[in-house]
Amino acid sequence: MKKMIIEGGHELTGTISIGGAKNSAVALVPASILCDEEVRIDNIPNISDIAALEEILKYLGADIQKEDNSLIIDGKNIVNKEIPESISKKLRASYYFMSSLLGKYKKVEMYFPGGCNIGARPIDQTLKGYRALGATVIEEGNKYTIFADELKGGRVYLDMPSVGATVNTILTAVKASGKTIIENAAKEPEIVNIATFLNNMGAKISGAGTSKITIEGVSYLHKATIETIPDRIEAGTYIIAGALAGNNLKVDNIIPEHIDALVNKLKEMGVNMEVNDDNVIISHTKDLKPINIKTLGYPGFATDLQQPFTTLLTQCQGQSLVEETIYESRMGHVPYLNSLGANITGTNRLAEIMGPTPLKGGTVVATDLRAGACMVLAGLIAEGTTVVEDVEHILRGYENIVEKLTNVGAKITIEE
Ligand code: EPU
Repeated sequence: MKKMIIEGGHELTGTISIGGAKNSAVALVPASILCDEEVRIDNIPNISDIAALEEILKYLGADIQKEDNSLIIDGKNIVNKEIPESISKKLRASYYFMSSLLGKYKKVEMYFPGGCNIGARPIDQTLKGYRALGATVIEEGNKYTIFADELKGGRVYLDMPSVGATVNTILTAVKASGKTIIENAAKEPEIVNIATFLNNMGAKISGAGTSKITIEGVSYLHKATIETIPDRIEAGTYIIAGALAGNNLKVDNIIPEHIDALVNKLKEMGVNMEVNDDNVIISHTKDLKPINIKTLGYPGFATDLQQPFTTLLTQCQGQSLVEETIYESRMGHVPYLNSLGANITGTNRLAEIMGPTPLKGGTVVATDLRAGACMVLAGLIAEGTTVVEDVEHILRGYENIVEKLTNVGAKITIEE
């Protein structure tokens, strides 16, 4: 496993340019195989989750070309065969292939997907969507065999606005016959990006970005291109870095509307920042007010920023509260932040952070992707050297993180 070594206490100044959104790109790539012609996806982030999806594409026999940060995918030679568990367990988004293959070939054999260790992540809502469209689902241990003579549009009410179940139902319904309606759909910007990509191919999806999405099935999807939207979680992470250690740090190539909840919370704390059309300029501010956050689906405060944000809360003057409502166990960062000097108590759902506490370098573990981001932010302001172990988790979702932070003044290296 790799380690990240961070020398704390260096000011961050200059520009960090944000890449394509992980959680869009990991759905755009599997969506591409629904197309009956070649597709092009621009602004693909350079992260290991994408490499894992490319492995699945290659395994299935898709033709892939790379041009800078674009992927050109042609699925016409795909063979619809069982995707082994050794590949599907590498990431959560592998199950988007389950839906693309089902939508295209009316049959798929695959295993339960992987993903970060942040509590149970069932796929019952996705399976409910398949059944509503007329598919039969056979579960044998971790293995799923799903098939239908014909996929017919249906009505799916999601018990919670699940991002994954919304994407999966869209992917399954685009080529089904008739109309599918998803109610209580997730409203994340990534869903809009995926619907736009499919509509560019000729799909008929309306309402993406609202809680009611309608899909009129079509039989053919033609050549199309799409640009992956900027990663709002990567942007948010570096904006928090700017609040911790920035001196006019510019976080560039963002869509500010996508990070409204974060920006509002930072303003409530008293952070010194300027929000422009496609960037934020942010500096370290003294005497930050403590605040409370509660994670919610978009446009609420993103759960994916909860852990990085907690590092900032350790520097506020008094008690802040973090309520995690999306995941049952996304607090893996807490013991490690405490080992660096933070004062956090609580449960898996609620953390009480008493600040300000100076942080002191030590050895910590990236227990999951965003816990890793939280540790990196802590390392940036900790006195002395912080070693973050299991950095592979971080590289799943933050492209060129060492280079991006080094370019603005951080002192970071990665060692095997
Ligand atoms: N849930 C169910 N049943 C389902 C689906 C979800 O109970 O069938 C529960 C989950 O257990 C979880 C909650 O509903 O407690 C939300 O799950 P959701 O399906 O919305 O999440 P996801 O699609 O698995 C995506 C992102 C996550 C991000 C969430 C929420 C991808 C690949 N992953 O996960 O990203 O936290 O939406 O916004 O898009 C990350 O990037 O660090 C990450 C974990």
